[in-house]
Amino acid sequence: MALIPPDIIEDVRIQTDIVNLVGEYVKLEKKGRNYTGICPFHQERDPSFTVSPEKQIFYCFGCQAGGNAIKFLMLIENLTFVESVRRLANRAGIYFPDPEKFRDHKRAAREERAWKANAQAMEFYHHYLLNSPGAAQAREYLDGRGLSADIIKKFNIGYSPAAWDALLSYMAGLGYRPGELADYGLAVRDKGRTFDRFRNRIMFPVADAQGRVVAFGGRVLGQEKNQPKYLNTPETPFFNKSKVLFGLNLARQAIRQAGYAVIMEGYMDVVTAHQYGIYNVLASMGTSLTPDQGKILMRYTRDIYMAYDTDSAGVKAAARGLDILQQLGCRLKVISMPEGADPDDFIRENGVEGWREIIAGAETLLEFKLRLAQKGKADPVDVLAEVLPNLAEMKSDIELEEGVKLVASRLNLSWESVKGEIRRFKADQRKIRVKPDKIAKNTYNIIKSDHTGNAVSAAEIGLLRAVVENPERLDYFRSALGDDFFQEPLHRDLYQAIAGKIDRGEFDPPGLLDELEDRAAALLSRLVMEAADESNISPGRDTEKVVNDYINVIRKNLQAKKRMILLQELAQAEKNKDIELVKSILKKLQEIR
Ligand code: UTP
Ligand code: MN
Repeated sequence: MALIPPDIIEDVRIQTDIVNLVGEYVKLEKKGRNYTGICPFHQERDPSFTVSPEKQIFYCFGCQAGGNAIKFLMLIENLTFVESVRRLANRAGIYFPDPEKFRDHKRAAREERAWKANAQAMEFYHHYLLNSPGAAQAREYLDGRGLSADIIKKFNIGYSPAAWDALLSYMAGLGYRPGELADYGLAVRDKGRTFDRFRNRIMFPVADAQGRVVAFGGRVLGQEKNQPKYLNTPETPFFNKSKVLFGLNLARQAIRQAGYAVIMEGYMDVVTAHQYGIYNVLASMGTSLTPDQGKILMRYTRDIYMAYDTDSAGVKAAARGLDILQQLGCRLKVISMPEGADPDDFIRENGVEGWREIIAGAETLLEFKLRLAQKGKADPVDVLAEVLPNLAEMKSDIELEEGVKLVASRLNLSWESVKGEIRRFKADQRKIRVKPDKIAKNTYNIIKSDHTGNAVSAAEIGLLRAVVENPERLDYFRSALGDDFFQEPLHRDLYQAIAGKIDRGEFDPPGLLDELEDRAAALLSRLVMEAADESNISPGRDTEKVVNDYINVIRKNLQAKKRMILLQELAQAEKNKDIELVKSILKKLQEIR
């Protein structure tokens, strides 16, 4: 991550008017102090996208996207932070130096060394596969699976020798110490010894979106007992599995051209697709899709097809990934492979033509879920219950209308009854889902929902907002609660960032946004937006009384926790017949009351 000199960012921020900038992409209407419009980041009909000229922040109450002008441009144009600042600088006529000049040298140097080590390991494995007598069996295996020489080159597929230190000694010659290779996940440390992590395996290099080698997947030759089929690079400071999609670097352009991406399960699926000239494909590497992967993918397209095995594990993984993507606002289709086949098998058997057909026949998410539900259940009411959450998530009226029609006809129900069920489901949801911002307006709810734990979360958010609204409240909270009372890590992180800024007298929400990770930045945008909302000035909102209610909720929860711990200790002490300890714990319990 490059560091841009703060004064440039500052200049960009001062010279950019977020309403102007957003206005270039979204039709905005003035509503009170803010502007609202249709969110460009998810499908919606009623505007929940809000821009505050005063705070220079945007936030969507529908999809929770939020941030400052820099973030907005990043999201809407798929830019990195640096690129976004550079564009805004150009737009405002601010001089922007060459990014190479202000890289964060230390961190960048380490990261680059990790990439380089992986790239060199890739070369080693690849060369070994192509040339070494020790890899004859591996070459035979890949040949047997029908991989062409070209495709092996394109993906830089390799083979790791059957030795404990083949890579280690090769890399030592290039100046890498064993410990360092262990840090990068290429070697394993065990009882003071360090040895090659990958031995005797077909090596699939995994690159990030920019094509840098960040990891490997290593496949055993054929069937081997007592061994995982694939061994992958573990998570390291340089490799975050949940943010990488196998094949993305080779698929970016094809995805843009085709207008959609296909997510497959495995390395071999993607490699084979390429061999057949199908390039807009990626693999989630065996796990279900993470929100981070979904977000990365959405930089390229919102139209996503899932091609998963139809064995039950595959279907379940697909269903989870699909829910995540739907929540992010993707348009989803599901490609159901014939029983027992994965895309690798399917494409080999049916060719590109067959692939085109199966893509054309892909089901929508609703059709897919409906079919799954109908398989296991006879009663249409039960089936309907299964798909209601999907219907309720539908953001456009047209989509919903079609969904209702489909469900009604498949289940032999009237449109009206399906619609009625959706309405009821949504109403129930509103009741169940205690919305933190709603709670904040209604202290009664806080007390009422105490046992759910949501109240604590809501109170934490309330406190955060109260501080954002008026930083002078920080001292008051500290004296009441100390400094470490947050249950939710996200809230705690944001609080610490805000408190740190306030302590240094530098609290400025739009500026802080650039330093926060995505979720924390979105939450801060929301808090700022809520704090800026006119309706929030009405009596009952974050007044001292409400703020004190937040404090009480949190305090009660802390006490309940402490009590639980003491009670456990008490039981233990009683068991041990430690009379003194029992007495002192009882005394502590008394004090909590
Ligand atoms: P599969 O078992 O479907 O393998 O796992 P595959 O990709 O079809 O490979 P072949 O055709 O048997 O050679 C799908 C993906 O799940 C991950 C890998 O990314 C694999 O490509 N996986 C699977 C693991 O990470 N570890 C395993 O032990 C198995
Ligand atoms: Mn396979």
